[in-house]
Amino acid sequence: MGDKIKIGILGCTGAVGQKLISLLGNHPLFEVTELAASDNSAGLKYSERVNWKEASDIPESIKDLKIKKCSDELGAKILFSGLDSGVAGEIEDFYASNGYAVVSNSKNHRMRTDVPLIIPEVNESHFELIKYQDSYNKSGGFIVTNPNCSTVVMALTLFPVYKNFGLKKVIVTTMQAVSGAGYPGIPSMDILGNVVPHIKDEEEKMQTEPLKIFGELSSGKIDFADFRISASCNRVPVREGHTMSISFETNKKASRDEIIGSFNDLEKLNLPSSPEIVIKYFDNPFRPQPLLDLNSGAGMTVSAGNLRKCGVLDWKINSFGHNTIRGAAGAAILNAEYLVKNKFVK
Ligand SMILES: NC(=O)c1ccc[n+]([C@@H]2O[C@H](COP(=O)([O-])OP(=O)(O)OC[C@H]3O[C@@H](n4cnc5c(N)ncnc54)[C@H](OP(=O)(O)O)[C@@H]3O)[C@@H](O)[C@H]2O)c1
Repeated sequence: MGDKIKIGILGCTGAVGQKLISLLGNHPLFEVTELAASDNSAGLKYSERVNWKEASDIPESIKDLKIKKCSDELGAKILFSGLDSGVAGEIEDFYASNGYAVVSNSKNHRMRTDVPLIIPEVNESHFELIKYQDSYNKSGGFIVTNPNCSTVVMALTLFPVYKNFGLKKVIVTTMQAVSGAGYPGIPSMDILGNVVPHIKDEEEKMQTEPLKIFGELSSGKIDFADFRISASCNRVPVREGHTMSISFETNKKASRDEIIGSFNDLEKLNLPSSPEIVIKYFDNPFRPQPLLDLNSGAGMTVSAGNLRKCGVLDWKINSFGHNTIRGAAGAAILNAEYLVKNKFVK
């Protein structure tokens, strides 16, 4: 235990914070030593304050930890942020400028020119951007972000296609789980037996974030990828896991076998949270499904299925991923593992 890197969780009471605590319960590199949330939670023991929604129990080492304010000094080197986006921007800046490595799930800094927006299997080279952050040069602190939970699923599915054949146009329609809105999220009366055809800011995130993630880094600047994305985002009565239908047109014509074969290009990274298979492809029109595929690769594998001709663009495919693991907490942990292995954490 003593050799592990000390971790703090900002937003420890929320849906992402709880998932982080549950995934870090028995982590080989990391040990959660600090918890922080709003002033309403500060001063209370974690087990007294949290409305715990994970299937596993609160780890014993966490139950009695006192929650601190998000302005307190924290005895940890890496801070995972699952903060509400209304407050994440300033708080994350504060900790980065005070020497902490902030690994964030929030949208606030994702599109900043000096902040990496990372899916390590896709754009690990972008971690270098950290070195252009003022805080890194002054105090060793920095901010790294992971993408929006739907963006991760779509970007992982499309990256092999982009790399091998180029992309011109993408049209995506999502069916997103209620857990994506945190707890308690959308009222049950609004979602049971219903579909809500709008999720605030989601379409914009899906249309812009992949272009930064697929971009090329040169001299400390990312040249964004150049293709068009149209996203329509829906909230559906599923508890966990985002499903999507993606149509795409490629620059270079490709056969069905070539596209399916390209999914194997996404190599497993040698990190504790890397899944064995990054994209699991099913040649089956009934897959993927949330009930069957949610926990594939401990929630870190993206499942895709039924690549077929599209009557408008070239191809269409179904894709699915765990929104609070691959789309949030697990993504942040994978980023932090990479940062440690590659010595970005001073
Ligand atoms: N849920 C997902 O699937 C998902 C996926 C990707 C990204 N995200 C992003 O991750 C972040 C967290 O999402 P969530 O679903 O976990 O939200 P959530 O359940 O609403 O949790 C928000 C957290 O922020 C804390 N907080 C609120 N106001 C604060 C303040 N003034 N000062 C300090 N802490 C404050 C809350 O603490 P208190 O309990 O003390 O109020 C709580 O711990 C958001 O930015 C979200 O967009 C979520």
